[in-house]
Amino acid sequence: MRDYYKKGIPVSEAIGSEGKGITIKGWIYRKRSSGGKSFIVVRDRTDTIQCVVDKSKVSEKEWEALDKAYLESSIIVSGSVRKDERAPHGVEMDVKSVSIVHSGEQFPITEYQSPEFLLDVRHLWLRSQKMIKAMEARAYLFRYVRKFLDRQGFYEITPPLLTKSGGETGASMFEVDYFGQKAYLTESSQLYAEAMITSLEKVYSFAPSYRAEKSRTTKHLTEYWHLEPEMAYYNNVMNMKLQEKLVSYIANSLAKNNEDILEHFSINKESLLKIRPPFKRISYEKAIQIMNEKGVKMKWGDDFGADEEKIFTEDEEKPVFIYNWPKEMKAFYMPVNPKDDRTVLCADMQAPHGHGEIIGSSERIWKLDELMERMKEVHLNIENYGWYLDLRKYGSVPHAGFGMGVERVLKWLLNLDHIRDAIPFPRLINRISP
Ligand code: 4AD
Ligand code: MG
Repeated sequence: MRDYYKKGIPVSEAIGSEGKGITIKGWIYRKRSSGGKSFIVVRDRTDTIQCVVDKSKVSEKEWEALDKAYLESSIIVSGSVRKDERAPHGVEMDVKSVSIVHSGEQFPITEYQSPEFLLDVRHLWLRSQKMIKAMEARAYLFRYVRKFLDRQGFYEITPPLLTKSGGETGASMFEVDYFGQKAYLTESSQLYAEAMITSLEKVYSFAPSYRAEKSRTTKHLTEYWHLEPEMAYYNNVMNMKLQEKLVSYIANSLAKNNEDILEHFSINKESLLKIRPPFKRISYEKAIQIMNEKGVKMKWGDDFGADEEKIFTEDEEKPVFIYNWPKEMKAFYMPVNPKDDRTVLCADMQAPHGHGEIIGSSERIWKLDELMERMKEVHLNIENYGWYLDLRKYGSVPHAGFGMGVERVLKWLLNLDHIRDAIPFPRLINRISP
């Protein structure tokens, strides 16, 4: 049988196809032989199924090819599905014909490999059950984000990733030699999104951001996917409302549509269905007070590092906003709080169970003089921001927006130990390959 393009069905469907003749296309997950029979567990994107090959029922050529095949060899199997109490899903497939599409070489990943080795062979490790499920969840997350924002009347925009100006978030940037000029890989597409709200009003950019952060933590990537919505005529409160609706929609959609994925990560569906607006809103000042009550000595002006974030939300079931942070700790474009000029009008969303910050958000200064004054205060070179200042010269409007780290959200929703498993090819301080 050399019919690569014959119609196959997903393994998950095969499991429910008792008594029917079917074809599946997948990879060899496990294999053993005994007494003239070969037991092959075939996997595809959806599931695994045990296939039983009787030597006397297939051609010699088929049997030999199967005998020589390795784990992860690609395979097409046709046969019929029958009940078997001992099999994983209570069914097994009796094989009528089997074709090894590509036998290849011995698969380098065996059981019990070190995490470093698995990162070296990431291109192959992506076939593991864990990574298949994580990447499936990631793709769904992208879908849900776009679906939600498109329905809310947003337009997706595509910002440049090579930029001339930068340094807005305080993170270090990757420098690029742009034909002899200094340029950078973008750390955020916000400023470009701001440029587009005077034309499309509600926009979002969904693109990578780059941070040359030397932090070796479980939540920092040097290249991550950044969702950045920006909205004309929005204030901080409207901004937070939109964020909690979006995050709830993502969590609820996963719970409703992707139970198999959640099961794999032992995530209780109900816990994600509970994520509904409103989320708690706690001022920075109050957050510091809460931390002290929890026994962590913190004073006004102290930042929340990974340890503090963990303690702050470890008993929470839903995300929490910490709003109005000290202005020294935040970017130049955030407006000063008229009720307390030590703080700015912003909010960070903290994931529950200690997963840390998943969203950074704020109103934006929309008046030219105010913006220039703030930029001078923080010693930014105004010349580098000519076009950004222009946005405040012609029909400027109050606006706000936020940035959500996709991998951080996935790390939280799937309760991953490390952010690297939320992206197929992680870029980390010590890793840029494969
Ligand atoms: O808080 P940040 O730095 O905010 C901004 O960049 C704003 N310009 C966003 C905006 O308002 N449009 O980053 C936003 C989010 C963080 O909350 C976090 O989820 C994620 O980006 N993030 C990272 N994710 C993975 N690895 C890193 N090194 C990250 N740095 C930030
Ligand atoms: Mg932040």
